[in-house]
Amino acid sequence: MSARIIAVTNQKGGVGKTTTVINLAALWARFAGNGRILVVDMDPQSSLSELFLGSEFTIDRNNSEMPTIKDVLQGLPIQNAIYEVELGSVGQYNASTLHVIPSRDELREIEMVLPSTTNGMFILADQLYNIKDAYDTIILDCPASLGTFTQTALFAATEVVIPVSPGKFELRGLVNLREEIEKAQSPRVNPNLKITGVIPLRADRTNLAKQTRDSLAQYFPNLILPSVPNRVAVAEAHAAAMDIFEYSPSDDAAAAYEAVLAELIRRGQNG
Ligand SMILES: Nc1ncnc2c1ncn2[C@@H]1O[C@H](COP(=O)(O)OP(=O)(O)OP(=O)(O)O)[C@@H](O)[C@H]1O
Ligand SMILES: [Mg+2]
Repeated sequence: MSARIIAVTNQKGGVGKTTTVINLAALWARFAGNGRILVVDMDPQSSLSELFLGSEFTIDRNNSEMPTIKDVLQGLPIQNAIYEVELGSVGQYNASTLHVIPSRDELREIEMVLPSTTNGMFILADQLYNIKDAYDTIILDCPASLGTFTQTALFAATEVVIPVSPGKFELRGLVNLREEIEKAQSPRVNPNLKITGVIPLRADRTNLAKQTRDSLAQYFPNLILPSVPNRVAVAEAHAAAMDIFEYSPSDDAAAAYEAVLAELIRRGQNG
């Protein structure tokens, strides 16, 4: 069976995309078993890569010969840029191996040229096609823009998951995101791409969070996934370079990510 390829995207900065990818991937890998889940860092900010591979990888220039997503987008066979990350066991969560294709800041260098390279915007799709049978799920962590790297992810993905945090401007931005998804869904690009769900993040009891949820339910009927609360443990785990299940497995945010994952798996099974 070939992998689901899930682009996690929202062009608004700092909504919690990367944190969501980290926690879902860490949980999914423990659940699915060694090497069945791959995450790809599509963001030159490389915060996902820093968390899983350490700042030595993302910052230290001595590592510059170690392949990243930039090399993959320039044609290096994708297998050469996959790194294995060991996730420890904690409580009811098993140890597992997660696969990661990292990025570094230098990814920026190809943002302008990739679209004018022959087939450039489809290189990621072609590369992932070659490995899709080796994985259950491939998750793409997109940057805070609708530019080259988000587009190339939408061209390669089978699904889109949209994390949203409370706020009026967040909702306005979703109109543009939807247009971008519709462009990717055009017949000659990626007609089978579908939106699997929207995750209300940092959901709390404020009116703003409630209004955001209500508007989301209207704008994306039947697509709202379980929400993730605003919890200091989530931010602390991120700062400590851990997933929430290692850092604070009893926190209700850990249970919330479990609920999101269960629903993502269910929606995947229902096609
Ligand atoms: N549920 C949450 N509760 C509390 N803090 C959170 C939650 N989710 C994310 N954060 C914090 O919010 C900040 C931004 O999160 P993150 O980096 O995941 O966002 P992003 O959308 O990936 O940002 P960018 O657009 O820059 O890539 C981080 O400090 C993170 O720890
Ligand atoms: Mg991010």
